[in-house]
Amino acid sequence: MLNPQLTKNGELQHLLSIEGLPKSIVNHILDTASSFVGVSDREVKKVPLMRGKSVFNLFFENSTRTRTTFEIASKRLSADVINLNMQASSTSKGESLLDTIDNLSAMHADMFVVRHAQSGAPYMIAKHLNDTKQNHVHVVNAGDGRHAHPTQGLLDMYTIRHYKKDFTNLTVAIVGDILHSRVARSDIHALTTLGVPEVRAIGPHTLLPGGLEQMGVRTFTNMNEGLKGVDVIIMLRLQNERMNGALLPSVQEYFKSYGLTPERLALAKPDAIVMHPGPMNRGVEIDSAVADGPQAVILPQVTFGIAVRMAVMSILAGNQG
Ligand code: CP
Repeated sequence: MLNPQLTKNGELQHLLSIEGLPKSIVNHILDTASSFVGVSDREVKKVPLMRGKSVFNLFFENSTRTRTTFEIASKRLSADVINLNMQASSTSKGESLLDTIDNLSAMHADMFVVRHAQSGAPYMIAKHLNDTKQNHVHVVNAGDGRHAHPTQGLLDMYTIRHYKKDFTNLTVAIVGDILHSRVARSDIHALTTLGVPEVRAIGPHTLLPGGLEQMGVRTFTNMNEGLKGVDVIIMLRLQNERMNGALLPSVQEYFKSYGLTPERLALAKPDAIVMHPGPMNRGVEIDSAVADGPQAVILPQVTFGIAVRMAVMSILAGNQG
């Protein structure tokens, strides 16, 4: 079956997931992002690569970092950016998602950046655009349900490459609510694609989904065991909004077993970096002493996210299908 995010020539048509993305495309995005990092430091923080293009931000779910950095990235590429308030849009009056998309396409949209609580919503939009021969319109998945958050995965890879240089000698631990995390899924696909030899998932049984071993991941329910000797720690938020029923005894118990404290961080390599996609819950998954400490690279992740999103959008805009 054809990968729905690639053209028949194997070029990026939409960015829907890191799963199935060739390593060459992942590296091309990271290399392109490197060339954009300096744009933010210029006096005129703009390049004309998307001048005249219209990017529509369609966020059906809340966002701080992703939505804002997509908007900044669009503006730095000189695109026109339109932020729709989807809670107040026609979908809340019963219009179907695809009818909304057709109406926005009729306004000459060039790109849709979509966040949706429903896994697969960006795929449905991309398929509809392909089926209706609107190949000039591109879709970027900005997070769908618990499925994928590819630009977060890519900015996480950019951050790891920035601090660690080489993926092929790393041990990376992803800690917490893996079950509900689209970030964990995107990170696992990205890390294995880039050749990381050891990816660990650490969390309670109730928050570790089945199938991790088949994805090449070692699982640990004991955090102290799982953190031993790691180079990178990716902490995750408890996704309470996606939990059905009690999967944990209490937040206090969770922090006791899975909170990243300075004592636990000391089990990792001395130069280990600490990452978090945000929003961060201090005292739940991470101690403030770690979040604000010298090994945390959480705010640089956000900054790199602008360059990575510029890279994704400019590459898509250059591929007209
Ligand atoms: N990391 C992330 O997706 O954060 P937001 O929900 O603020 O966009």
